[in-house]
Formats: sequence, structure tokens, C-alpha cells
Amino acid sequence: MANELGGNQTVMTQALVAIVMAAGKGTRMKSEKPKVLHEIAGEPLLGHVLITLGALAPQDVYVIVGHGAEMVKAMLPPTATPVLQAEQLGTGHAVDQVKPHLNQFDGTVLILSGDVPLLSAETLQALMSQHEQENAVLTFLTTELADPTGYGRILRDADGRIQGIVEQKDATAEQRAIREVNLGTYACSWKHLAEALGTLTPNNAQGEYYLTDAIAYLVNGGHRVASYITPDSMECAGINTRAELARLQGEYNRRTAARWMVEGVTFLAPETAIVGPRVTLGHDTIVEPGVILLGETTVGKRCLLGAYSQLTNVTLGDDVEVLHSYLVDSAVGDRTHVGPYAHLRGGAKVGSDVRLGNFVEVKKSTLGDGTKAAHLAYLGDATIGKKVNIGCGVITVNYDGTKKSQTLIGDGAFVGSNSNLVAPITVGDEGYVAAGSTITDSVPAGALAIGRGRQVNKEGWVAKRKGVPTK
Ligand code: UD1
Ligand code: CA
Repeated sequence: MANELGGNQTVMTQALVAIVMAAGKGTRMKSEKPKVLHEIAGEPLLGHVLITLGALAPQDVYVIVGHGAEMVKAMLPPTATPVLQAEQLGTGHAVDQVKPHLNQFDGTVLILSGDVPLLSAETLQALMSQHEQENAVLTFLTTELADPTGYGRILRDADGRIQGIVEQKDATAEQRAIREVNLGTYACSWKHLAEALGTLTPNNAQGEYYLTDAIAYLVNGGHRVASYITPDSMECAGINTRAELARLQGEYNRRTAARWMVEGVTFLAPETAIVGPRVTLGHDTIVEPGVILLGETTVGKRCLLGAYSQLTNVTLGDDVEVLHSYLVDSAVGDRTHVGPYAHLRGGAKVGSDVRLGNFVEVKKSTLGDGTKAAHLAYLGDATIGKKVNIGCGVITVNYDGTKKSQTLIGDGAFVGSNSNLVAPITVGDEGYVAAGSTITDSVPAGALAIGRGRQVNKEGWVAKRKGVPTK
């Protein structure tokens, strides 16, 4: 539909609500979890669908829950309303459960399945455009498959007009030869659909109320039913087995990497990097093989994400290097170097130009700009200033068996190698801690603290032990 700006964008003329069917068990997953809670790139299948739906900004999203309803409800964002389908009597029955919520509704409903994680916002938008352009009461996604087994087949008349959908189990041999299939995604006028739902019966091979029977009802009533034939059938693939889950994870990886490569991100082995749907990456960032980026993770420009690093809910500035490391719920400033084998967690906030080397763990601590902890340290519940040197093997002793205590280290301080800072404790600005100290009293600014036994050298001790007479 051309708008007054002369473009080809679709102008949404109707209010839109979405219904996501997610009450099924997913028997073939052989799982204690409902199918829609299995994950791709750290996000439940249903989460992918809800994120994609966000691009269409529906005024309400209803999620049909049944199997594992409590578990599914627990992961829903506040913007989605769960609707219980106590017994799974079919897809038509599932959509029917939303009726009490849509009494007065006079707009369009978009119906999807919760187990179709790769469906893109572009395809949904194309479906909506088609629906509006054709002025149809119902428009649904179809595709041609080389092997259509298991899917509902599209019945068309001699002129190509849609007549209805027949399910695999109800189809004649002739109908089973049809390769155009229903992908289970529908845009429709709620008023018309609601009427059609009222006419469904379970008189079929599966004894279910088929949503797909609504199509023949609408066609027979003289209404316009249209289809959007997507060339990308993989995008609409559902998941029924662990093998399909793995296949779609691989496909998801390739597609997600392809999208980020367009934005100027380098992937050394695109199929091996797992980048969640809520992750953002800056241009000229390099993603090495096996990198896993999950949750709400934001990576700046020109970063290097070294092989097999895993970041969950992490914010990285620009020019950050993370090598072979594991970061959770943390933030890292520009030009900071992390790893190899570093572990950041529990709200670690690391400044700019920081160096965190191998086997350094930072938990719930703040590190100021230019600070270094280059090897083998545990920094927990600490507030560490700028340009601090944390020597090799330094430990903040933050736990006494009952409670956690804080360590404060001022700007420019130097904590010598293998020191224990027994918290609660403060090392003042530019304070020095001698190597090997166990510090139990705070160190004033500018002071040197030595907290270790004095060294004693016993001359000739070794020879005496061996019984060799000394001269
Ligand atoms: C459905 C379509 C079929 C289409 C296929 C595409 C029907 C009758 N058939 O078949 O034409 O080719 O999808 O994948 O609609 N669900 C509920 N409650 C129920 C039943 C199902 O919430 O009572 C949910 C399931 O959890 C799933 C979705 O609806 O997310 C589809 O159900 P499923 O049983 O997988 O339908 P198919 O037999 O695959
Ligand atoms: Ca299915």
C-alpha cells in the first residue's frame, strides 16, 4: 500500500493483537520441560517468538499455556498475558480460549506457534502487508516443501484460489501429493475468525478442533482468504525433536552471524558462534570460533572476542579484548584486556584501560581506570581505585564463614604479590602492601605495610643436618 510519502511501507490501519500457541507438550522432546522452554542461543523458543513479535508492536500478546503452564508463565514478560487451555483439544480450541479477552475487539489478530524460533519480523511484516493489500479476512503463511509430510496441505481450485487446508492424517493419497503446506502463522480479522471458531467440530482423524478448518468455513462464506508464500521455508520450521532443535540452533547461528556480518562484524567460524537475539555488536569487532554471547549483552566497536569466551548479560566498551574467558552480569570499559582464563561475575564493574590477566576472578567489585591485576587473583566485594597494581596471587579475604566484608583500595595503591587483604579493610591512596603480607589492619594513604614474619637465615644448617663436620 503506497502511503502519502510515496513509499511502499505498509500503514497499519487496524489494531493488532497477537496470539501465541504454546500449550502443547512436545512429547517427542522426551523432556520434563514443555517444548517452548527449550532454548536456542540461551533464549527459550517462545522467547524468540515474543522478541520477533515486538517488531510489530501488537497492543496485546496472549500466550496459550497448558502443559507446564506455571513454568511457561514464569518466563513471560509483563507485556504478555497467559491464557490457560486446561485441556489441549486442538489449535482451534487453543485460539478459542482468548475469546473472553477479545469481546469488543474489532481488529486483526496474528496467530503464531511458540515453537517456531527462526520466524523473522520481515516475514511477519510481509504477511501483514499481503493481508492488508488483498483486503482479506484471513491471510496465512505457506511454502512449497520437497517433503511435505506431517504438514497441513493447501487445497486450491483450478484458478489457484484457496479452498481450505487438509491435515496430513485426514488427507487422501492425492491430497498428500500436494507440496504446498500450511506453516501455522495467520493474520485475520478477529470478528470473522471468532465466528468461524464457533463452528469447529472435532470430527476428524485426530478428534481435535482444527484451527485450519476455519479457512474452508470463511471461504464458503464468500470471504477473501489469501496466502503469503514464503520462499524461506526453513524460517518457519517448528521443532518437535532434539535433532530438529540442534539443526535449528545451527541454522540460527548462521543466520545471526550473517546479519551481524552485514553490520561489519567479523566471524572466523560463523556456524560455531552463538549470539543471542538480545545481543548487540559494534562494527569491526572480531568473533572467534565457539564464542557464546547470551542474554542482554552489548559489545562495543573493534573488540576481540577470543575463542570459546562466554559472556552473559555483559556490557563491553570499545576496543576491549576478551580471551578465553567467562563473564556474567558484568561491565568492562574501553581498551580493557581480559584473560586468558579470567572470570567476571556478580556485577563486576571494570573501568577503561584495565588489565585482567590469566586466572583472575572479579566478583561484585569495581576496578578503576588503568588498574592492573595481571595474574592469579581473587577480587571479591572490593572497591578498587584507579591505577592500582594488584600483584600476582592477591586475595581479598571477603568471607569469614558467616558474612561477606568489603575491601577498599585507594587510587595508585600497590598490593604486592601473594598478599591477603582480610576484609573489612582499607588500603589508602598510594598505600603499599609488601609482597606476601597478610593485612588485617587498614593501611593509611602513602604508608608501607608489611604483614609477615621476619626472615631468619641459619648459616650452615644443611651441612649440620647431614652430619658433615663444619670447619
Ligand atoms: C499445525 C497445523 C498444520 C500446520 C502445522 C505447521 C492445525 C490443525 N494444523 O499442525 O496445518 O501444517 O501446524 O507447523 O492447526 N497447541 C496448543 N493447544 C492445542 C494444540 C496445539 O496450544 O490444543 C499449540 C502447540 O503447542 C503448538 C501449536 O499449537 O505450538 C501447533 O500445534 P501442533 O500440534 O504442533 O500442530 P500440528 O499438528 O503441527
Ligand atoms: Ca507442529
